[in-house]
Amino acid sequence: MTTTETPRQHLDRLWARGRALLGTDTAIMGGAMSWVSERHLVSAISNAGGFGVLACGSMGPDLLAAEIEATQALTARPFGVNLITMHPDLDALMDVCRGLQVGHVVLAGGLPSGTAIRRLKDGGARVLCFAPAMALARKLVKLGVDGLIIEGAEAGGHIGPVSTSVLAQEILPEVGAAVPVFVAGGIGRGEAILSYLEMGASGVQLGTHFVCATESIAHPNFKAAFIKANARDAVPTVQVDPRFPVIPVRALRNKGTEAFMETQRAVIARFQAGEIDQKSAQLEIEHFWAGALRRAVIDGDIESGSLMAGQSVGLVKEEQPTQVIIDTLIAQAEAALTARGQATAAPAAATDRAVAPEPVP
Ligand SMILES: Cc1cc2nc3c(=O)[nH]c(=O)nc-3n(C[C@H](O)[C@H](O)[C@H](O)COP(=O)(O)O)c2cc1C
Repeated sequence: MTTTETPRQHLDRLWARGRALLGTDTAIMGGAMSWVSERHLVSAISNAGGFGVLACGSMGPDLLAAEIEATQALTARPFGVNLITMHPDLDALMDVCRGLQVGHVVLAGGLPSGTAIRRLKDGGARVLCFAPAMALARKLVKLGVDGLIIEGAEAGGHIGPVSTSVLAQEILPEVGAAVPVFVAGGIGRGEAILSYLEMGASGVQLGTHFVCATESIAHPNFKAAFIKANARDAVPTVQVDPRFPVIPVRALRNKGTEAFMETQRAVIARFQAGEIDQKSAQLEIEHFWAGALRRAVIDGDIESGSLMAGQSVGLVKEEQPTQVIIDTLIAQAEAALTARGQATAAPAAATDRAVAPEPVP
């Protein structure tokens, strides 16, 4: 921090590229969360100076169009739309975004094709993608993405194997200069935001931390489970047998996670007994969680539903308005900078004392 800069000016300098790409006051993205990131939370995040991202999830084109229009009615500020690349109607969903002049599209759930990226960009949208590894980050930059999100294993929902801190060290030094990179996974305080910005990030993405926002439509049971949980309660799904791969999803441990283990064992026993073939067994395992996130978020079934949450859930202590959540994160980052200013001043004062002449008795 230069001597003439306020902490906020310093922060604004650190995340200037992220703010410019998003068109926002802060480079804090509210990561898309299926069922949670709908019009109310997304517009609240954008209205509070962050960048809300609508989760398309399994919505079809008509539902997505209605949700985008409803969000546009609630905020005049920029927000994005998250599309899952393996959605069977991806082309139609991209056309909806183009037609409604969505400014930013986040492509998730697998490496997008160059054609998809170009199609969105030709329609005027900025395109952001998840880069789970260095090689893919390089490839996505070559394909012309406007920004990257690197999400570590601490995050809630579908996760990769590598922690946020390691991904940041691997990817930021090389790719951070080429395109703005947003760090996600495990962030719940402003000091962590500051440290990733200082490592070369242009912004951050938080999901878990926004679930208990007052404006979030998540069921009171879902929010209560988050407020009660500790970091260690947010665990990845466990795979019982390497022949039957399970996509790792980080969620709060509940009866559903236990039942999933039992189901895997039972299905594998039937496969071993020759009662079902491998493909059917795999499908049964994959279908276990179908509809489970909706059951938890919307219906409040926190016993058998999926309580997707990141490890930063341990830092979620209460329901708060989105504006308070964002202001608190910024205040924490600013306080860290201010404290550091005092820390650099302290040794100088000590030196002054050391060289000061002894008082004459
Ligand atoms: C309940 C929940 C649902 C999520 N759904 C999606 C999704 O539909 N698409 C997506 O790209 N990411 C999804 N995520 C990941 C978030 O967008 C975000 O990247 C992640 O939560 C950041 O890590 P954090 O949870 O540690 O803050 C989800 C996360 C949670 C907690």
